[in-house]
Amino acid sequence: MRGLLRDRGDDLDRWARTINPQFARVLRTIGFDRTWERAEGAYLWDADGNRYLDLLGGFGMYNVGRNNPRVRAALVEALELDTPGMLAMGVTALPGLLADALLQRTPPRLERCLFTSSGTEANEAALKLGRAATKRTRVVSTDHGFHGLTLGALSANGNPEFTTRFQPLLPGFDRVPFGDLDALDGELRSEDVAVFIVEAVQGKGVNLPPAGYLEGAQALCRRYGTLFCVDEVMTGFGRTGTMFAFEHWGLEPDLVTVAKSLSGGYVPVGALLMSRTVHEAVFDSMPNAMSHGSTFAPNELAMVAGLAMLHELEELRLVERSARLGERLLELTRPLVAELDVVKDVRGLGLMWAIEFEGSGMAYRMLERAQRGLFAQLVVVPLFSEHRILTQVAGHDVAVVRILPPFVLSDEDLEQFADALAATVRRAQRMPRSLTRFALTAAGIR
Ligand SMILES: Cc1ncc(COP(=O)(O)O)c(C=O)c1O
Repeated sequence: MRGLLRDRGDDLDRWARTINPQFARVLRTIGFDRTWERAEGAYLWDADGNRYLDLLGGFGMYNVGRNNPRVRAALVEALELDTPGMLAMGVTALPGLLADALLQRTPPRLERCLFTSSGTEANEAALKLGRAATKRTRVVSTDHGFHGLTLGALSANGNPEFTTRFQPLLPGFDRVPFGDLDALDGELRSEDVAVFIVEAVQGKGVNLPPAGYLEGAQALCRRYGTLFCVDEVMTGFGRTGTMFAFEHWGLEPDLVTVAKSLSGGYVPVGALLMSRTVHEAVFDSMPNAMSHGSTFAPNELAMVAGLAMLHELEELRLVERSARLGERLLELTRPLVAELDVVKDVRGLGLMWAIEFEGSGMAYRMLERAQRGLFAQLVVVPLFSEHRILTQVAGHDVAVVRILPPFVLSDEDLEQFADALAATVRRAQRMPRSLTRFALTAAGIR
């Protein structure tokens, strides 16, 4: 493997040839086309030995840090133990141990765990099992919600840029504005909705729920017999400063989906945690004992990584760290709202943080006309190329930059980010011609 990697040639060329040329174009255009050699904790190194601060964490899957040494050691140990692997017709120790560990950390209402290999599959399971358990067919989700890109989860997606070209999606899916309880009541009152699926904090745009919204949504679900499903794929395992985001509002969902950082970023894995009633309504007899599943879902390496990740999170008190660093980050960055006209909002919960822009000047309006949210690229690109900090625009059509860093980053890292951000936004607000030209090129407009 070492030799293969040493003599491999250009990664981006090969990616463009074999995987996705358009993605390679995007990376080249915005100057993100580095050759990556190594990672550790909250840092990445390129082939020239430059260190980058990774505030994106692989879209939030490295909560315990990239290449976490204790998760790795557990994986190596498990490989050396020659554990039985997947029996298919039989059970082994590790899936039960991880299921137990997950259910011990969630409200008593959740009693069963079904493993998957990704977040979207966990949501597929929630929708499919939820429909069978309630004997209802409709699903309600929220505008701007994101639950994955397979067909069922995509049908619940509230972002047209992901759905428009893939119609028709599944029938019976409707959406309501995030935060609007009257609209939700309007959909649920017909008592034919199986599942209401919602992120506690929306990843696209980092939208926090208005006060009382999630508690109200749960109450409406209970009133109308709809299953309340909280998608914790991004927010789970400490991202928002509690083990699960729903804890902030004392919720007790019927269905909870997790994935991303469950394996510490090492092995694909996800899970649907559900109430016993839902489970028993679907897996209701021996002939139905295998009504849903996936060959690789409870694979042992994923289970080992999950157990080690939970251990690491608690041993190093990383959830508390996420809460503390999140507060610190808000302290450091909130003053930008008062200082700079172009900063509309700075918000966050734990280490899920975003800055939103809104401008009124001619240049800003021209950029926004060219492509909504383009101003945010004027921040993300120099943060990367000049300050070596990796961030991301938080969705199509939104002028929002977001970060989802590994929790192991330091106070100094946050201070470095806050300083770099302030300098970058100040400069972007002046809209120097070179930046504007770059942005229009990046958007494919010039
Ligand atoms: C809230 C949420 N749900 C589901 C998913 C889909 O997860 P996966 O990419 O593992 O399929 C994502 C991915 O970003 C997500 O953020």
